[in-house]
Amino acid sequence: MNSRQAQILQALEIPVWQLRSTRAGAGVESAAGEAAEAAQNAEIAAAAASEVQQPAHAQISRGAWTESIDLARLDWDALQSAVSACTRCGLCKSRRQTVFAAGRPGARWMVVGEAPGAEEDQQGEPFVGQAGKLLDNMLRSVGASRERNVLIANVLKCRPPGNRNPEPAEVAACAPYLMRQIELAQPEFLLLLGKFAASSLLHTEGSIASLRGRIHRVDVAGRSIPAVVSYHPAYLLRQPEEKAKAWADLKLAVRTMQP
Ligand code: URA
Repeated sequence: MNSRQAQILQALEIPVWQLRSTRAGAGVESAAGEAAEAAQNAEIAAAAASEVQQPAHAQISRGAWTESIDLARLDWDALQSAVSACTRCGLCKSRRQTVFAAGRPGARWMVVGEAPGAEEDQQGEPFVGQAGKLLDNMLRSVGASRERNVLIANVLKCRPPGNRNPEPAEVAACAPYLMRQIELAQPEFLLLLGKFAASSLLHTEGSIASLRGRIHRVDVAGRSIPAVVSYHPAYLLRQPEEKAKAWADLKLAVRTMQP
């Protein structure tokens, strides 16, 4: 194991096992166990190191080791690596890959959607399907884009099979990742699209109709971030007559914080 691999293991709080020299007739079994553990750690570290160097949404398919990671210690790239290896809920079994974010931390606006769909699961980027095209057009209409000044992420980082709704246990398992993303990215404004983004971050079961049209606050790591709730673009594709309300929400967003 090289020193970079050891550093990553340390940051992820995975113990680095040193193989004791095997004395004749004593401790052979525990030495074998340590050797296996050391080999496994080296494999995890190698996978994590290559992921950090080239975060191309490649998966590190490991066991339940992400359970013990202290997310507060991870920077953006390490967080992405942790997400790509996540096994906190059953969605890890059916996902093609995790979908972390589009855009870079530091953007003033952060858009939060629900969960990857089929195309996002395939491409590893949020909002790249039909709903994503609508979102891009809506953002462009107010001078914003994922390429320039908007960071986009979802409540869930893995696709629910058949695009079913996220289950409460999945939202709970994934929530720490979204919170850490917000903490690291430090957006000055949040646009919450759809009921899962709204309920996760505002801790309310209110309908979009009852939550839109006003400024909410989302408290993350000591910062109080203004947030606007609006309809999810997938809903707008099904109910185009609601687009006027989404447009009003966007104007409220721009009045609250220029992108
Ligand atoms: N819907 C979402 O909420 N997020 C995506 O990334 C794609 C569709």
